[in-house]
Amino acid sequence: MSWIKEGELTIIERFCANIIKAGPMPKHVAFIMDGNRRYAQKCHVERQEGHSQGFDKLAQTLRWCLNLGIREVTVYAFSIENFKRSKEEVDGLMDLARQKFSRLLEEQESLKKHGVCIRVLGDLPLLPLDIQELIAQAVLATRNYNNDVSESLLDKCLYTNNSPDPDLLIRTSGEVRLSDFLLWQTSHSCLVFQSVLWPEYSFWNLCEAILRFQMNYSALQKARDSYMEERRRQQMERDQAYVTKKLQQEGFASHGDSRRRRTLLQKCTAMREERIQGFLQALEHKRVDFFERLCTVSA
Ligand code: IPE
Ligand code: IPE
Ligand code: MG
Repeated sequence: MSWIKEGELTIIERFCANIIKAGPMPKHVAFIMDGNRRYAQKCHVERQEGHSQGFDKLAQTLRWCLNLGIREVTVYAFSIENFKRSKEEVDGLMDLARQKFSRLLEEQESLKKHGVCIRVLGDLPLLPLDIQELIAQAVLATRNYNNDVSESLLDKCLYTNNSPDPDLLIRTSGEVRLSDFLLWQTSHSCLVFQSVLWPEYSFWNLCEAILRFQMNYSALQKARDSYMEERRRQQMERDQAYVTKKLQQEGFASHGDSRRRRTLLQKCTAMREERIQGFLQALEHKRVDFFERLCTVSA
């Protein structure tokens, strides 16, 4: 199985892809690839074969996405809960992941030429102590600067901070739940649940999901815009409240002098930015450090 080299679209698929591409396209699609074991049972093959075909389907789906101009894909391949499956199944899945992803890494250079990057996200059951400590310090600091804490700061603290939220999330196999996958990031995504089992997923299933995204596009866009507007309004309100308090401390009446108010507002925004950048840089350093330690331990 190659992740990129094989499998161009057929003429009819290309034709339909061009029609779909005339509409708004999702830039980032997330998949919950579900139904491998039911597929194996249905086809009377070993469970491991179902998982293996599931990985191959992922490679094929990535190629379709590339052909459709979708440059960012996030997939749910394994959850913490999945460790509760039998040892034999977990070992089998890990072996498959090792095999298939090492091929993917070999092909990474070619993928980069197509503008595709690979990022592995994970739920870490326990944060290392020094990161916990940093977060505790930040929480303490919020007593003095409670207008620093916002939803956009939370966005920036997540592992997904470099990437836009998914526009479209697809779950296969007819299960209608998110199983803890990207809960925060998909609050304004188009959610599409399809009954097809993951190893049987087809180009046409993907087109159907994109069409559903397109049908909901303007409502989604409106919801996102008003959410962002609300965030900005709340931040402004918090800043104004902070400045009013400062002015009162300086002995001004609550409205204060308008020039002084403007200066304080600018100063408060600039200082908040500085504190937040400092915190995010420290968090990034600790993370890099943590992953380096993790790689040394597992090497
Ligand atoms: C999804 O398929 C793949 C993984 C969770 C690793 P499942 O293994 O959950 O298959 P079903 O849903 O039981 O059919
Ligand atoms: C969900 O796995 C995650 C993946 C598909 C990788 P499950 O199929 O075990 O989901 P739940 O636990 O039944 O929701
Ligand atoms: Mg499942």
